[in-house]
Amino acid sequence: MYNKDKTQNINSIGFFDSGVGGLSVLARFRKILPQENIIYFGDTLHLPYGNKTKEELIGYAKNILNFFKEKQVKAVVIACNTSSAQAYDTIKNLYQFPIYPIIQSCANVIANSGVKKVGVFATEATVKSGKYKEELTRNNPLIEVKEMASKNWVGIVEGVGDNIEEARKNIKFEIKEMLSFNPDKIILGCTHYPYLMNEFIKYAPQNLFIDPAEIFVDFIKNDLEKRNLLNNSDGGKEEFYVTSSPEDFVKNAKIFYDLKKLPHLYK
Ligand code: DGL
Repeated sequence: MYNKDKTQNINSIGFFDSGVGGLSVLARFRKILPQENIIYFGDTLHLPYGNKTKEELIGYAKNILNFFKEKQVKAVVIACNTSSAQAYDTIKNLYQFPIYPIIQSCANVIANSGVKKVGVFATEATVKSGKYKEELTRNNPLIEVKEMASKNWVGIVEGVGDNIEEARKNIKFEIKEMLSFNPDKIILGCTHYPYLMNEFIKYAPQNLFIDPAEIFVDFIKNDLEKRNLLNNSDGGKEEFYVTSSPEDFVKNAKIFYDLKKLPHLYK
């Protein structure tokens, strides 16, 4: 079971994602908890997570959590919907620190926000898991959910895959298909998607989209507070690790994070 001692408040919080996506969460986190020490891990070698199997995703998550354990983190934020959908249930009891998965931490607030029909854009692996539908309807059985796997939107953000221009053109048709369901809100169910907001608003109003990051960060803050784990002393240090291409990471991060130096390459 989880044991808290005094030294843990200044220990870092680990954040992870397949790449720069989780920075859309970290950027919001920084606004409300600037004094926390952070270690961010972008698993760029295995990007995109969206086309990986459950077994692969569990393996990646365990490796990253073991790395965070060695770093003696006080908590871990899964700033990745795909990993939350496919790996969280398997790994959640394997570590002594609290682990926060994005989907499960936000579903209650979204499901009870007065929406009746909710669209979800997410990766193939997230949609395959049905996790959004499961979590939203568990919190509100009357809600109707349409989940759509978007085609290589992560590739557009990270500059990977050979059909990037085609994927960009396809956004229009994917949004139109979603709009035909007539949703009250559309959840951006992948932390990379807020990077594409300027594309989305060409086809639908911005207030139709929910970026769960804000709800997620509030949830984490409240839970850390409850556990008496917030860092009230000086802090705000940041360390970044990636598993490949540190230069690309800095370049792709720009919209949400201006990294002053190259991340460490983790091997
Ligand atoms: N940003 C991640 C998510 O929220 C993973 C995207 C990917 O690598 O396919 O699902």
